[in-house]
Amino acid sequence: MNESATAEPSSSFTWTRRHLLGLGELERDEIEHILETARGLKEISMRSVRKVPPLRGKVVVNLFFEPSTRTRTSFELAAQRLSADTIEFTEKMSATRKGETLIDTAKNIEAMGVDVLVVRHASSGAPWIIARNVDCSVVNAGDGTHEHPTQALLDVFTMTEHLGPDLTGKQVAFVGDIAYSRVARSNIFALTKLGAHVHLIGPKTLVPGSLKQLHPNVHTHHHLDEVIAELDVINLLRIQLERQGATNFPSLREYTRLYGITRARMRRAKENVLIMHPGPMNRGVEISPDVADGPHSVILNQVTNGLATRMAVLWLVSAGDTGSPMSQVSGRLRTPPREG
Ligand code: NCD
Repeated sequence: MNESATAEPSSSFTWTRRHLLGLGELERDEIEHILETARGLKEISMRSVRKVPPLRGKVVVNLFFEPSTRTRTSFELAAQRLSADTIEFTEKMSATRKGETLIDTAKNIEAMGVDVLVVRHASSGAPWIIARNVDCSVVNAGDGTHEHPTQALLDVFTMTEHLGPDLTGKQVAFVGDIAYSRVARSNIFALTKLGAHVHLIGPKTLVPGSLKQLHPNVHTHHHLDEVIAELDVINLLRIQLERQGATNFPSLREYTRLYGITRARMRRAKENVLIMHPGPMNRGVEISPDVADGPHSVILNQVTNGLATRMAVLWLVSAGDTGSPMSQVSGRLRTPPREG
């Protein structure tokens, strides 16, 4: 790990947002501030007592309308490590099944005295709709095919740990189902704002050429082997079969042959390339087991860093009015005043 990655937070920056909805709307210094805050908080998870008091008395509700293990557990643990009370709320438990609207569900939960709603929903834009209708903070935990901001933040956090804090000019690839991937979209926003080049690689049906228009640093490719030697980071994505109306490539076997990362294909990659995956992984499809568990893989580091990143986000959106909570944590981080 690059030690310089544990930089002190910049003293001039003031966090003002009540919500974290997408990285498309964040400025570069806001993204950097979340990453710096996460670096300061990571150490808490290494302590023997992994709990600090800043969000004591606050309530964080996980409102998940889509299946999730990693993200939901990570948000729950992150909230608990900051001493917030947490409530888990899944679609199965929801009165939306009885015809209640999403807005009514959110308003009813908020009326019980909730500070942060962490929302995952199959419809793109759902967290924005909720945020417009409630007074508490809303954090997007993945909306349809649109954004997954905390996943991209933890991905970027993990990259900076290995490549150094400045990602300018780094070549970061996403291989696979870009068209349906909220993880890729949020990463594109974050990485281009931080000066990295983003390479989107996959069959034409899953990597539309129009994605290049997002930013001059976004490049699309359909032949992995032609670019693999240039890449500093390779993020592998699952084929989002549940979001595709029809299959967008001939067969999984064909897909694996052309785009799967195997030990043989790794021989063409840079010696110190990082292999990443947001999970859930389909071993033997987009990644072979020996690469997933091999020396280049930082997949479990991503999961670990998810906690610190989500702690940072929960704290920044919710703790601005509670005095100087971080002085109770490390004395290094400042209280963010929050917008009204
Ligand atoms: C991703 C998601 O839900 O968008 N997973 C995650 O949050 N860990 C990616 C995926 O489902 O493939």
